[in-house]
Amino acid sequence: MSDTATATAAADSTVDAVVSTVARSATEIRRGLVGRRGDVDEENPSGETQAEADLWADDLLAERLTAIDGVAEYASEERPEVVDAGNGRFGVAVDPLDGSSNLKSNNTMGTIFGVYDAPLPASGRDLVAGGYVLYGPITTMAVADDDGVRKYELTDEGASLVEADVTLPDDPLVYGFGGRVPDWPEDFRRYAREVESDPEMKLRYGGAMIADVNQVLTYGGTFAYPGLESAPNGKLRLQFEGNPIGYVIEQAGGRSSNGERSLLDVEPTELHQRTPLHVGNESLIDLLEGTLG
Ligand code: F6P
Repeated sequence: MSDTATATAAADSTVDAVVSTVARSATEIRRGLVGRRGDVDEENPSGETQAEADLWADDLLAERLTAIDGVAEYASEERPEVVDAGNGRFGVAVDPLDGSSNLKSNNTMGTIFGVYDAPLPASGRDLVAGGYVLYGPITTMAVADDDGVRKYELTDEGASLVEADVTLPDDPLVYGFGGRVPDWPEDFRRYAREVESDPEMKLRYGGAMIADVNQVLTYGGTFAYPGLESAPNGKLRLQFEGNPIGYVIEQAGGRSSNGERSLLDVEPTELHQRTPLHVGNESLIDLLEGTLG
């Protein structure tokens, strides 16, 4: 094998190992939620209250992902600094439990991951794979890479492929927008009214981005956590949420945007930077950018 072919095979095996480690850990994370629904007396680097389960899932993923050959760095929404794993070239960024405030009400949550071929914080253009696990009535995982998007069901026995070439349906049906409505800027309100005026569109907002995004991937439509009057960069974080989710939706034929450009083209300036986040069918993201522009 040539040196280039050897390096490519090693890189592929690192990415595969990250994906399979997330898949294997997800069923354990799900089981481990029982008894860990309380908050701890700490905040994450974005100033949000942490749940016991957030910290536990973060520790579990950190330990396993940093042990993979080829993973140089691990970063998570739950810890302030990048962890130096020191053995390769890939940076893995995770949101161990997206939507963990839903633990209290026993609603849906997720785990998000992105594999960057660059030091963290990195651009979404450096992603070589990204995806999410959804802890719904069943545990499913969406994985995106150069080949497109695949969906799996996860059990203790492993991952079974349920859809090989996932694409956004052409006709959008659902929308979900975060942030308090009175805090939405006037131009975003105008856009929201226009989306709502389509008689086909139904409101779906669950308080966990992964649950809302998975509905968009299933039915077509859009999810947004926009910039707010009180927080122009919104709530969600570029490295852990914006880039991986933007990547999944774009690989499935949709678009992502911060209001002006693809999330994948937003310059990374700091690990926990926030960004307005919009994903969905091309027609809706075009309408959004036209209205905000
Ligand atoms: O922290 C991330 C998150 O939980 C997302 O999963 C979700 O979309 C959003 O925050 C919910 O925020 P809010 O409570 O403001 O609706």
